[in-house]
Amino acid sequence: MIKPPNYISAIKPYVPGKPVEELERELGIKNSIKLASNENPLGPSRLALKAILGDLTNPNITNSLNRYPDSSGYYIKKALSDKLSIRENEIILGNGSNELIDITVRTFLQFGDEAVMAHPSFIVYPLSVQATGGKPVQVPLKEYKHDLDAMANAVTSRTRMLFIANPNNPTGTINKRDEFDRLMKKLPEEILVVVDEAYFEYVTNHEYADSMKHFRNGRDILILRTFSKIYGLAGLRIGYGIARQDLISEMNKLRAPFNTNSIAQQAALWALKDSDHIEHTREINEEGKRYLYKELASLNLKYIPTEANFIYILLGQDSDTFYNKLLRYGVIVRPSGPQEFRVTIGLPEENKRFIEALKKVKSEK
Ligand SMILES: Cc1ncc(COP(=O)(O)O)c(C=O)c1O
Repeated sequence: MIKPPNYISAIKPYVPGKPVEELERELGIKNSIKLASNENPLGPSRLALKAILGDLTNPNITNSLNRYPDSSGYYIKKALSDKLSIRENEIILGNGSNELIDITVRTFLQFGDEAVMAHPSFIVYPLSVQATGGKPVQVPLKEYKHDLDAMANAVTSRTRMLFIANPNNPTGTINKRDEFDRLMKKLPEEILVVVDEAYFEYVTNHEYADSMKHFRNGRDILILRTFSKIYGLAGLRIGYGIARQDLISEMNKLRAPFNTNSIAQQAALWALKDSDHIEHTREINEEGKRYLYKELASLNLKYIPTEANFIYILLGQDSDTFYNKLLRYGVIVRPSGPQEFRVTIGLPEENKRFIEALKKVKSEK
């Protein structure tokens, strides 16, 4: 019987946030809410929706569904290049930034090579590294943030890349400009720094690290961003990476020819233009953050102040048990450690539902 290599069998699969339909089917309940995957609770931009719905019903346009999509993603790359003042050949599109993590690892890591990353951080980094027979080197967070000095010290002659989620998932913390610049000075030039900025658009802190500066200085850096979070297009799967053209062209060799579909490209193009939607999303998020901070404090629950659209809560008791109890009240969160869970900031009524459920579970024996 065929067997995968041992390094594949050893992988613990990624468990995605539970979908509402699944919970309702399982428990026979209705009106559940999902605050587990850091999606935009307002939904996608109306401009994006209008554009793609128009296209779907028009048989004469180039991105009609019977045609393959534009493999180069010309229009969305052009829009990103204008917005970010970079060249189109410095951009790679992915089926979500998730796919780009995988492509990066497959492009630059060989069997036995090491990749340094934080723990806890985005779970896909160690999975992708393990899938190529590489070794994830996990460095504990310090005060819930990436410990960039310790990560630099974890670099060995086998290290090929270093992952930094900024803001970090699940803690919502950021690394600041000074410490990031210090890291870049310390690291050998030939180590690829992958800065995952999935929540970049939510950050308001003026000291947020400037990864683009290092890209412009020609360093081996790859910046990952996505249309899944603030742009509200998680279901369409589209994200992008920014790096020097020589790095991007190597990565493009491993990219499947039609990895981002025509509807996703079109929606992303319009979502990018819809600054009102982005602004509104930020406002709703800030309002929800203030409300949740206040309620969590009044429930004596410790949390880590966030720079993103989710909050890391320090429960002080078993998080899986607590998670399952919250499910019974129709609220889906994300256990993110033995005694910690992460909750996405939702619409005002969703945040309220979450707090009510939290109160009920806390008062249970
Ligand atoms: C830090 C981080 N990076 C990447 C992703 C993947 O996003 P995408 O939907 O673009 O694949 C997520 C999604 O949760 C994330 O939290």
